[in-house]
Amino acid sequence: MRSSVGDTGTGPEKRGMNLTLRVWRQQGPTVKGKMVTYKVTDISPDMSFLEMLDVLNEQLIMQGDDPVAFDHDCREGICGMCGVVINGEAHGPQQTTTCQLHMRSFKDGDSIDIEPWRASAFPIIKDLAVDRRALDRIIQAGGYISVPTGTAPEAHATPVPKKDADNAFDAATCIGCGACVAACPNASSMLFTAAKVTHLGLLPQGQPERNDRVVNMVAQQDREGFGGCTNIGECSAACPKGISMETISRLNHDLLGALRAGARPKS
Ligand code: FES
Repeated sequence: MRSSVGDTGTGPEKRGMNLTLRVWRQQGPTVKGKMVTYKVTDISPDMSFLEMLDVLNEQLIMQGDDPVAFDHDCREGICGMCGVVINGEAHGPQQTTTCQLHMRSFKDGDSIDIEPWRASAFPIIKDLAVDRRALDRIIQAGGYISVPTGTAPEAHATPVPKKDADNAFDAATCIGCGACVAACPNASSMLFTAAKVTHLGLLPQGQPERNDRVVNMVAQQDREGFGGCTNIGECSAACPKGISMETISRLNHDLLGALRAGARPKS
């Protein structure tokens, strides 16, 4: 949707922003990509970044060109599907998801570089869309609680201390967007894995599988080719949900405890 800004009919009409976009275009996983320059005009500051890309794509389609491929779903900061590197920063200049980033974060006349997440564990599918299934496989390795089928137990039957409940909830806000990987110079997925290990490891229901969970999830992230964590902290700074580095300390604590207790990853 394109619109003028602040046109109330009572004053001089304000126009939207004119921007130069340098977008990574890559036809497929095995094809060489390159940055391509486009102009977009009259962009409302109230648009989200993805709406601005929609404007670009409408323009490209009208010209008979191939629209830019990018991932998105909820456009509400919930699903974790969206994510691009904007001027070198995962999700751009604000600590939020790309779909929740508004164009008022930019100025008229700006040039904006738009690239996909860069990590060998996230191969490019096309343009700005990457394959993030490596994160799903880390979850499959242990990021769950096994429960018997049947009626859900009464919620108050298992008391959880308030502090643990709050910390577990904070970790559970991870949406798996992969910004932590994209922001990390090592392309490490440690913050993602740590959020899942912390979320489940703090709750009573997560205790029976706690040791196996941490060793298997860490082994899987290594198998996927993510880099090692060297506590740089870019992951937490880029995380749209503000997952803290404390979760990584918890993971390391759990991992050492599990290994001392004899837990070993499944091969
Ligand atoms: S599209 Fe769902 S978080 Fe951005």
